[in-house]
Amino acid sequence: MTDEKLIELLKSMSLSEKISQLVQLHGGYFGEARQLTGPEQQFNISGKRAYSIGSILGECGFEHLKSIQDGFIENQPHHIPAIFMADVIHGFRTIFPVPIAQGASFNPGLTQKIGSAAARECSSAGLHATFSPMVDLARDSRWGRCMEGTGEDPWLNSRFAESAVKGFQGDSCGESGKIAACAKHFAAYGSALAGRDYSSSELCERTLMEDYLPSYEAAVKAGVELVMTAFNTVDRIPCSINKKVMRKILREKMGFEGVLISDYNAIGETLAHGACADKSEAARRAMNCTVDIDMMSDCYLNHLEDEINSGRVDAKLLDEACLRILRLKNKLGLFENPYKDGSIENEKEYIYCDEFLKLSRTAAEETTILLKNNGILPLDTNKRIAIVGSLAASRKITGSWAIFAQEEHTVTLESALKELYADADITYICKDVITAEELLKISQCDAVIVAVGEDQSRSGEGKSVAETVISEEQSALLGLVASCNKNIVSIVFGGRPLCLSDVDEVSSAVIEAWLPGTCGAYAVADILFGRVNPSARVPMSFPYSTGQLPLCYSELPSGRPKPNEERYYPFMSNYMDVPNKPLYPFGHGLSYTRFEYSDVSLSSDVMKKGETITAEVTIKNTGDMDGFEPVQLYIHDVKASVSRPVRQLKGLQKPFIKADESLTVSFTIDEEMLKFYDEDMDFTAETGEFEVFIGGTSEAMNRTSFWLED
Ligand code: GLC
Repeated sequence: MTDEKLIELLKSMSLSEKISQLVQLHGGYFGEARQLTGPEQQFNISGKRAYSIGSILGECGFEHLKSIQDGFIENQPHHIPAIFMADVIHGFRTIFPVPIAQGASFNPGLTQKIGSAAARECSSAGLHATFSPMVDLARDSRWGRCMEGTGEDPWLNSRFAESAVKGFQGDSCGESGKIAACAKHFAAYGSALAGRDYSSSELCERTLMEDYLPSYEAAVKAGVELVMTAFNTVDRIPCSINKKVMRKILREKMGFEGVLISDYNAIGETLAHGACADKSEAARRAMNCTVDIDMMSDCYLNHLEDEINSGRVDAKLLDEACLRILRLKNKLGLFENPYKDGSIENEKEYIYCDEFLKLSRTAAEETTILLKNNGILPLDTNKRIAIVGSLAASRKITGSWAIFAQEEHTVTLESALKELYADADITYICKDVITAEELLKISQCDAVIVAVGEDQSRSGEGKSVAETVISEEQSALLGLVASCNKNIVSIVFGGRPLCLSDVDEVSSAVIEAWLPGTCGAYAVADILFGRVNPSARVPMSFPYSTGQLPLCYSELPSGRPKPNEERYYPFMSNYMDVPNKPLYPFGHGLSYTRFEYSDVSLSSDVMKKGETITAEVTIKNTGDMDGFEPVQLYIHDVKASVSRPVRQLKGLQKPFIKADESLTVSFTIDEEMLKFYDEDMDFTAETGEFEVFIGGTSEAMNRTSFWLED
């Protein structure tokens, strides 16, 4: 439909009809067997009015959605189809590694592939949009939703954000097999105070602008069709009614012209925040913030009409919001084909297809981190091996947002090993409490694999913890095994960087498997036995102690920087009881081969504003296995009008280098990379010295420096 026709349609709609387009409800209102329950009954909506809303969340299945859509076409006064949205966060039926694991791949291209596969699979089941990617930066692993983001670094998160959008949407969300993506949660949801979900965000403006907002801006620049408001406050104002965040920053500064959707009842929750006296005020203030869709509250549904009729809300705002929603439906092609890619044939062709199952395996090969290895890995299939720990036999390793996954399809580590390494001498004791006889057997093995960490029920929304350690039962199991066998390989599952210092102490090797998805366990098995050479890196610091949180590599130096990590220094910025540094820092990860870096060379040691210089290193694979190496470029602004982080990631490449071969990698450094918000909050680069580090971790000391001049 042309935009002119859309505007004609808008003009022909009644006030009530326009408001209904701004409402999103879950499927509890539609389909035969559903009953209105609990809060929904308070919305006092049923029948024809239900079929006039703009969108539905959380339903799937072509035939089910077709029947609902047919109800819309029949009952909606202008036969306007609904948009079907759902949380396809990292896969629909076929589940890929959780987003924090994808961040560990240090390969945004992988996330684009995953987004494309998820879009193809879920669109075949009738879905039109996903509430993904979650691009919230997180530096506190007490927050359970760090599982849904790609870690602590603004630059890396931005690359993953744009890749996810491209994967889900392609060049246009109306293309076959593509869906509309939604960047969330705007803004700074990951800065939840004390890591407690839904708590406030207490950031200075500079940290908000420089660290927490870039990934949303990257998603907007990549053309994301929707942005979702966050539950938390910014500047002590709930985001859904925060004019500065929504209008000044998102709409005006970032230029977002797409659909702004509230999180689940987030507009209604402004009353609990104590920021709105009633739902009329909530509706008014959210509308004034250009929030287009009210998800699962009745503020717009039952209160916006009065606000407009009374003149307290400008009717123009409603028209603009409704037009943005109609334009999204038009982009999706729903006026021509309200079912888009949904069909029984497509469901049969794409759901759990071999291509996607294979991708869920190869993705996990890139997301599984080798954190420690004293040489015990890769394991030898001729050696006597035992595997213990209930997580090794658990199917609950797909993630708390794998809501459409069917658990019987998930491969466990135990089943993967039995299938791929049937000839190996492996004793399976996949439980957390073992007998004396089993312990004797373990003591006679050459190596013991111990599965520890968290299953999917321990991370995700509302899953904050005060202690980010493995369970007492797992600690006891590890201690028991260590008492009779020193050759321990710990496999850690979970959706957050746990405190693994006790695990590290008794393990010869530590692997972070995260929540690897439907077929990810195959990858873990292949890494254990060396068929796959690991290349993943830490996307979010693994602390020694929860007490170090929040934690990130790109911290400010402080006025009393700790001279080194050797010991405690009185009256310096350090702890008496634990190091400042994390156990495993951002960018850290091991390989089965070795990569040696040459010195960093610059095309010039002076860079004029507006010009560029090139930084180069040559990397040699000195081991005997081919492998990928995430080459990281960090820059440190030595002196500026405000204190600057000790270093920041500004470039990344992940070349494949064959054993005994070398490769030269170059990065272009430009002025944009050097900009920050100066003491007047102007975004600028200041002249002076900049250090350049290039290496395979954020602790790389391979450095040189240049001067920026006017
Ligand atoms: C939830 C989450 C959000 C999700 C939405 C719809 O509360 O905060 O990420 O997309 O509701 O399920």
